[in-house]
Amino acid sequence: MSYKDEIQADRLPLHVAIIMDGNGRWAKQRGNQRIFGHRNGVAAVRDTVEACAELGIGYLTLYAFSTENWSRPKMEIDALMTLLVQTIHKETPTLMKNNVKLNAIGNLSNLPSDVEKQLQSAITNTSGNNGMLLTLALSYSSRWEILEAISQIAREIEDGKLRSTEITCDVFNQHLSTANIPDPELLIRTSGEYRISNFLLWQIAYAELHFTNTLWPDFRRDDLYKAIIDFQKRERRFGKTSEQIINKN
Ligand code: FPP
Repeated sequence: MSYKDEIQADRLPLHVAIIMDGNGRWAKQRGNQRIFGHRNGVAAVRDTVEACAELGIGYLTLYAFSTENWSRPKMEIDALMTLLVQTIHKETPTLMKNNVKLNAIGNLSNLPSDVEKQLQSAITNTSGNNGMLLTLALSYSSRWEILEAISQIAREIEDGKLRSTEITCDVFNQHLSTANIPDPELLIRTSGEYRISNFLLWQIAYAELHFTNTLWPDFRRDDLYKAIIDFQKRERRFGKTSEQIINKN
């Protein structure tokens, strides 16, 4: 029996989020520069996107470039940005074929203009698709996003559009860049690191976490299936007791 056959189709995570990690180590193991790892990470992105779309996952969010990644050597940043432009351009037909709608979160105005342009064009070109929503987190960090939401809420209060007593989880959610996207139910991190690294901190409050030693360029659909099988074995209690979950009350 293949891993795919072990997945229960009616209990899929609605939203899968992935911290793609280990590109640099993968390249180093092969005596190559870090960008070689990023380039080889593209095949993992393609396979994961296709596998999620085929399974019927509603939302996939990939952490592609963090706010903190701007501190990397300029040569690596430039190469990564070039790779992003090329990949977004080259992969748009794959997104169309799989009925995937592209979205991006993060401080996108910080991206080089060619990256932002290519991204916006792919977002527009795929906007008519109604299958999976693929969100790329670019120049993104959760603390940045939370501070942005707080500033916006504070401005609305100053302008008399909102009262402080009206701030609820739903109102806060609507001020995040993930407004209208359900919270991730499964968060995967590759490369054997056990950290969240400033990714979707608010949204993963009840996500199941899956860590794998696989380095991102080696990640393929079977690794995704294993993560989903692991997810389906978890009892999701949301603060309730096991008995309440079993008796559905
Ligand atoms: C983390 O590995 C990976 C990144 C910072 C970049 C991820 C980018 C890609 C996979 C390229 C294409 C992506 C898309 C969505 C088009 P790392 O460099 O931190 O690895 P290390 O921890 O081994 O150093």
